[in-house]
Amino acid sequence: MNIIIEQTKEDASQKAYEIFCEAIENGAKVFGLATGSTPEMLYDKIIASDLDFSNAISVNLDEYVGLAGTHPHSYQYYMKDKLFKHKPFKECYVPNGLNDEATEVARYDQILEEHPIDLQLLGIGQNGHIAFNEPGTSFDSLTHKIKLTESTIQVNKRFFVNEDEMPHYAYSMGLASIMKAKKIILLAFGEEKAQAIKDLATVETADEAIPASILINHPDATIIVDAAAASLIK
Ligand code: GLP
Repeated sequence: MNIIIEQTKEDASQKAYEIFCEAIENGAKVFGLATGSTPEMLYDKIIASDLDFSNAISVNLDEYVGLAGTHPHSYQYYMKDKLFKHKPFKECYVPNGLNDEATEVARYDQILEEHPIDLQLLGIGQNGHIAFNEPGTSFDSLTHKIKLTESTIQVNKRFFVNEDEMPHYAYSMGLASIMKAKKIILLAFGEEKAQAIKDLATVETADEAIPASILINHPDATIIVDAAAASLIK
């Protein structure tokens, strides 16, 4: 696992953009994409570029259970709004929050089986989660339904106009599925991510209490952070 510290979020997003370009030059066609505030600047750079994704496939990490893809707080809506409507992909997959658990888990695992991810983009939760794999999730996990922790609910409810509307469950790609990606980039910005980055940077053995720590066992994982997120590891 390689850690790159850039001064600003802008510089870090630029670095991630360059890794995207390089992966595309090397033939990447299937992109594992993430939501949240962190990847927005990278998506803006992709939109502004002449990169062509019309033959590419995207497979997103997660979705809130109970939200339709048309709901403005669903991750499917986010992806359309922030990326796909500006930069068309050939096929875009996001978990369906309206499906029952058995149907969705089987459907999404099949999608992942058929479309091995070339480049996976990740953010990180303040508690060290990646996708919605909360602390304690098995490193062997595939797609699953997860109960969000109180800390994740507190952090993410700011996105909901009516905070009580925030679902307490999500469908998430599992940690074993994320690890199958050929190449992984994790982005983290801001002081509120500093503890999670310190935990990840200093862990000696991957530990299910720190979901992101599984990345230390990946052959090609790059963590790109701004100075604020790196403030506890300098
Ligand atoms: C959510 C998503 C994660 C994301 C995290 C961080 O919990 N499920 O995939 O990495 O939020 O979000 P942000 O980038 O807004 O800090």
